[in-house]
Amino acid sequence: MSIVVVFESMFGNTRQVAEAIADGLAPFGEVTTFTVNEPGAKDAAQSASLLVVGGPTHVHGMSRPVSREEARNWAADPLKSVTLEPTAPGTGVREWIDGLDTVPALCAAFDTRMDVARILSGAASGHVERELTKRGARAVIPAASFLVSKETVLEEGELARAREWGANLGAAAAVSPKR
Ligand SMILES: Cc1cc2nc3c(=O)[nH]c(=O)nc-3n(C[C@H](O)[C@H](O)[C@H](O)COP(=O)(O)O)c2cc1C
Repeated sequence: MSIVVVFESMFGNTRQVAEAIADGLAPFGEVTTFTVNEPGAKDAAQSASLLVVGGPTHVHGMSRPVSREEARNWAADPLKSVTLEPTAPGTGVREWIDGLDTVPALCAAFDTRMDVARILSGAASGHVERELTKRGARAVIPAASFLVSKETVLEEGELARAREWGANLGAAAAVSPKR
């Protein structure tokens, strides 16, 4: 099974989660991971059997140009102690999904968000899942959020949980019809 994981990350947390998910998926197929800014991501995603997409929750949903600009401001603020990823977009998952001509039969969505009640945080992953399923993909397992602290550091155990989510996704996709 060819599996493509595509992520957006401003400060590195979603990248770490994406890499842990890719680890969990590894026994189930050939896994390739891209940021939304890599030119090869679109072609790889469109020809995959399973497309996994994730990004940070910004303003209760997927990032927008203005929220990514705000993230860049956070990185410039010494009080925030966050560092911009070298590959910080650029673009975001919203725009990246908009640019797809087709989607694979199978998909799954994830996000990172603050460790507060979901009703307060919102979650990008539900929006990512909706955009992918609207285009014809089927979500293999429910979307998942991985939590960061107020200091924008992944909470303990979240990377292990991400690996496990990836493994559960791979196992479910392996027995899902591919069309
Ligand atoms: C402009 C901006 C808006 C944010 N809005 C939310 C939000 O509505 N809910 C939430 O849970 N987290 C919010 N966050 C926190 C992000 O979810 C957090 O920075 C992100 O998960 C870290 O992922 P990254 O390191 O991959 O960028 C926001 C962050 C920024 C920069």
